[in-house]
Amino acid sequence: MKKVTEINRRDFFKNAALAGAGLVLSSGTVLASGEDKTAFIQSPNSNLSTLPTRKLGPLEVTGIGLGCMSMVAGTYNPTPPKDEMIAHLRKAVELGVTFFDTAEVYGPYGSEELVGEALKPFKGKITIASKFGFEIQNGRRMGRNATPESIKKVIDGSLKRLRLETIDLYYLHRMDPNVPVEEVAGAVKDLIAAGKVKHWGLSEVSPETLRKAHAELPVAALQSEYNLAERVVENQILETCEELGVGFVPWGPTHRSFLAGRFNEYSRFDSQDRRSQLPFFSAEGFAQNMPFLRVVRDWSQKKGITMVQFSLAWLLAQKPFIVPIPGTISPQHLAENLGALNVKFTDAELNEIRAEIEKFKFLGVRAPETAFIDQ
Ligand SMILES: NC(=O)c1ccc[n+]([C@@H]2O[C@H](COP(=O)([O-])OP(=O)(O)OC[C@H]3O[C@@H](n4cnc5c(N)ncnc54)[C@H](OP(=O)(O)O)[C@@H]3O)[C@@H](O)[C@H]2O)c1
Repeated sequence: MKKVTEINRRDFFKNAALAGAGLVLSSGTVLASGEDKTAFIQSPNSNLSTLPTRKLGPLEVTGIGLGCMSMVAGTYNPTPPKDEMIAHLRKAVELGVTFFDTAEVYGPYGSEELVGEALKPFKGKITIASKFGFEIQNGRRMGRNATPESIKKVIDGSLKRLRLETIDLYYLHRMDPNVPVEEVAGAVKDLIAAGKVKHWGLSEVSPETLRKAHAELPVAALQSEYNLAERVVENQILETCEELGVGFVPWGPTHRSFLAGRFNEYSRFDSQDRRSQLPFFSAEGFAQNMPFLRVVRDWSQKKGITMVQFSLAWLLAQKPFIVPIPGTISPQHLAENLGALNVKFTDAELNEIRAEIEKFKFLGVRAPETAFIDQ
């Protein structure tokens, strides 16, 4: 297993080196269409690269964004050195990434502060998304709070930390069961009128809530978990986005790095690591879920790409309005992930992949009916 991954990475870095020299990435069936040749090409008037873009409602962003949650402690890793993360975020801009995802609750506050400091020089040239809707007390997340009063208060803290006058995309992080979504939309409408927010989104809501929200104030994007293993959003959520013209942003696109083939059945997580609490990543979960990686490995070999590139490219191939936001604190992983923008599948390949994934029964994924419940 390890050997295959290493071979794929070697191939990737060989290709990335060609791209760095101004040549376009090529591996097997990649670069099937002309439009993708913009990937990794140096733009003439700057030292920044350009990447293919996609639309999230009215917003245009790079086809892959960068998740900034794990740049602070609290999910998968201890806080990495701040200087390294600032350089990492700026390198992402240099590579052409224009879409960055953070939230008030990451840290809490630390991720927004980091993003604000690192990306200040690129104000107006990139899209920063943040999220609201959790009560934070004494630096700890306490529960949900999406009352209009709270939304109108916390926006100012986010703007200050992000060093912005306007947040490009402001998501309701989780539904507050005590506040109807129409009231949340009303509060965000006021923030838009005040120039503090440009577009809004929701996260982990049902198709019904999305419809109500969109009827009140057009939604640019829905952000929910989606990857080769966790596919609950295929149950009417993606269809609803398509019908309404709402973009879809999959969080957890590598399934918290499971799809990278980084773990084996003996892997265990520190209690600080969010995965330690998830049945998918328990000993039993690994025993049942690990064989799926054969599918990912076989396809990535067939396509001459890495397992993560395959996983991200598969998401991109599902709908043209999907923009994954893999989280990474590693510059190498970031470059690898962006390579997925160059991968193309034929319809026959997508059908074959679909048949293989649907045969597999995962332990620790959501039940189909949960698609209809606000999380
Ligand atoms: N709306 C929500 O409720 C919600 C929930 C969770 C997350 N999010 C957002 O979505 C973003 C992504 O979600 P996520 O971080 O939970 O899941 P993810 O992106 O699937 O997984 C992140 C993990 O994958 C690893 N990884 C990334 N690229 C890799 C590569 N090429 N090879 C090997 N490992 C790789 C990272 O490790 P390294 O750092 O070592 O690369 C990290 O541990 C977050 O940053 C956050 O902005 C939103």
